[in-house]
Parts: sequence; structure tokens; C-alpha cells
Amino acid sequence: MRKKVFLITGAAGEIGHALIDSLSGQGPNQIVTLDLQPLPESMNSRVHHVVGDILDKDLLSRLVSEYEIDTIFHLAALLSTRSEFKPEAAHHVNVEGTLSLLQLAAEQSEWRGEPVKFIFPSSIAAYGLPDPETKINYAQVREWEWNYPRTMYGCNKLYCEHLGIYFSRHYRQLAADRPVMLDFRCVRFPGLISAFTVPSGGTSDYGPEMLHSAAKGEAYECFVREDVCIPFMAMPDAVKALLWLTQAPRDSLSRLVYNVTSYSLTAAEFRTRVLGHFPDADICFSPDLKRQAIVDSWPAGLDDSAARRDWSWLPEYDVDRSFNEYLVPNIRQRYQK
Ligand SMILES: NC(=O)c1ccc[n+]([C@@H]2O[C@H](COP(=O)([O-])OP(=O)(O)OC[C@H]3O[C@@H](n4cnc5c(N)ncnc54)[C@H](O)[C@@H]3O)[C@@H](O)[C@H]2O)c1
Repeated sequence: MRKKVFLITGAAGEIGHALIDSLSGQGPNQIVTLDLQPLPESMNSRVHHVVGDILDKDLLSRLVSEYEIDTIFHLAALLSTRSEFKPEAAHHVNVEGTLSLLQLAAEQSEWRGEPVKFIFPSSIAAYGLPDPETKINYAQVREWEWNYPRTMYGCNKLYCEHLGIYFSRHYRQLAADRPVMLDFRCVRFPGLISAFTVPSGGTSDYGPEMLHSAAKGEAYECFVREDVCIPFMAMPDAVKALLWLTQAPRDSLSRLVYNVTSYSLTAAEFRTRVLGHFPDADICFSPDLKRQAIVDSWPAGLDDSAARRDWSWLPEYDVDRSFNEYLVPNIRQRYQK
């Protein structure tokens, strides 16, 4: 008999680390992880890690022949800044990689007669606000508003959301028999901040970069203007959102794509918070107009009332608790000499 497992792609990344920590203590399912990168030694005893590419179809077939995949957390992706430098590569990984995994999940759902849950992290990059006035007027954007991304990454995310909905609701709609369809669920995350990993390749990275640089005693030049505002969330809440959405009863979900958020801060407010804890921090603003324009197109806040209503979503870390209890103490410890 094949072993029932959770599959986490992109497990060596920021969310992957935190998700493995939370999932490995829970439930009978084993965890299989897949990433181009190895995992740190300390994690290898908790999961079966495969170093490989989500675009490698032979590798995916081997995984399916060995395991009964119950839930997929599909985290592997090229993030927003990297995707802008290599848009074709972003399409391959972000879209074709997701399509391969959706096909795998669709086949597994049919084979076992039970939907495979497919959990997908989308992003505020799926939004594209045209100008500053609109950003002010739509302070809390709802899921169906302003879906006009201006980055390759945002286009990839929005399209993959639609692919997931298609595979969940309409897959093989002209076939004689209705297949057992997979169960796609998606959260649109704001910028995430982890105390334990340093981000790379994202366009919301200036927030966490300010903090990590301050703790290391290094100067930091922020690449956006002081007044730029976007929503953020502490990593434990991001993992909680993924797990709560996974566990929610299917019939309580009125949507397949949900905004989740915690707090919004301008870059200046972020700096003030960092200075409150690291008074010697040397943070200045030196906007990169091109990256700035991308952040300007992202909403200042998200309306996550659907998630709150349907699956009782509630962040545990507001801005004070994020900084005082999670980020600052753990980041201080991380860089303590
Ligand atoms: N961190 C955030 O602020 C944020 C916000 C919104 C959405 N997300 C989404 O959450 C997911 C995880 O984000 P993260 O912050 O952990 O990113 P990350 O860059 O830290 O991790 C991504 C991982 O995917 C792996 N990967 C990339 N291409 C691969 C491939 N072809 N095959 C196998 N593995 C591959 C990388 O090696 C990396 O370990 C991504 O889909 C991202 O778009 C993240």
C-alpha cells in the first residue's frame, strides 16, 4: 500500500521552513518535500526530502508511484523581482510547474476516488492599481477588484488561481463521466515577515530587510519611498492561514481564493518601529523608481472579511505583537554574537 503523505513543493524557502515546523508535529500523514535546494540538516529527520525540479515530469511520476498524495502545499515559485528579470523562466516555473502539479493532483483524485487538497499561496501582486488616487480610494481591496497585475509574477499568480478553480470545478466538463475533482484552495498573502529566514527575490522584502539589517548592525537603503504603504503579516500567521484553510470544511467555503492580511504600514512607519527597538539602526530611503512603481500598484490593505466569515480567519499577530513578541526577540537572538 502506498503511504499517505502531504507534499510540500518549494519546501526549502521561507514559508516552507515554517510550514514544516508546524506540520511535522501534526497528524498521521508523513511529509514529502521537494525543492531545487536541500533542506537544513536539522529538518531532514522530520520529512522525506527530494532535491529536484517541479518541472521534472519523471520525478513527479516517481513520487505518485511511491506515495498517495493527500494534500499538496504548492509553494515553489520564482518571486516577483526575480520573475521581472526572467519572465520566461517565471512562466515555466510558476505556470507550467503549477499546471503539472494540478494534473498530478487531478489524476490522484480520480485514482483514489477522493479529492486531493491543493493549497496555493497567491499574492497581493495579483492586484494592479492604476494610480495613487485609486490606491487611496480602494484602501481595502476585495478579491475580485483590480485584478490587473503589472508584473509577470502577478500575471502568473492570477492565472494559476484560475487554473486551480478550473481544475476544481470544470475539469473534463465535456467527458461522459464527471471525474472526482481536486479541491483547490488559495490565499492571497500580503508581504510576509519571518524572524528565522531572510527573504530574497520579492518586492516587499524592504520591510524584513530593514529589520534584519538593523539587528546585524548594518546600514540599509530602502528601495521604496517613505509614504509607500502595503499590508504585511508575520510568518506564524501565514502558516496558520494555510493550515486553517486546509482544515476548513469544503461546504463552508464560498470562494476558492481568499485575501488574508494582518496590518498595513508605510515604509516610514516600518522604519520608526525598527528604530524603536534598534535606536542605532542606520536606515535611509533611496527609492528605485522601477521597483517603487510595482509596489505603488499593490493595494495598501486587503479586505479579508470572506476568510474571517467562512473559516474564522483571524491573525494572532497585530503590528505590536509581531514586533514585540515574534520579530525583534527572535531576530536579536539570531544575530547575537
Ligand atoms: N514570502 C512572501 O512574502 C510571499 C507573499 C505572497 C506569496 N508568496 C508565495 O508563497 C510561496 C513561497 O514563498 P517563499 O517566500 O517561501 O519563497 P522562497 O523564494 O523563499 O521559496 C521558494 C522555494 O521554491 C524553490 N523553487 C523554485 N523553483 C523551483 C523548481 N523549479 N522546482 C522546485 N523548487 C523550486 C526555491 O528553491 C525556494 O526554496 C511562493 O509561491 C510565493 O509566491 C510568498
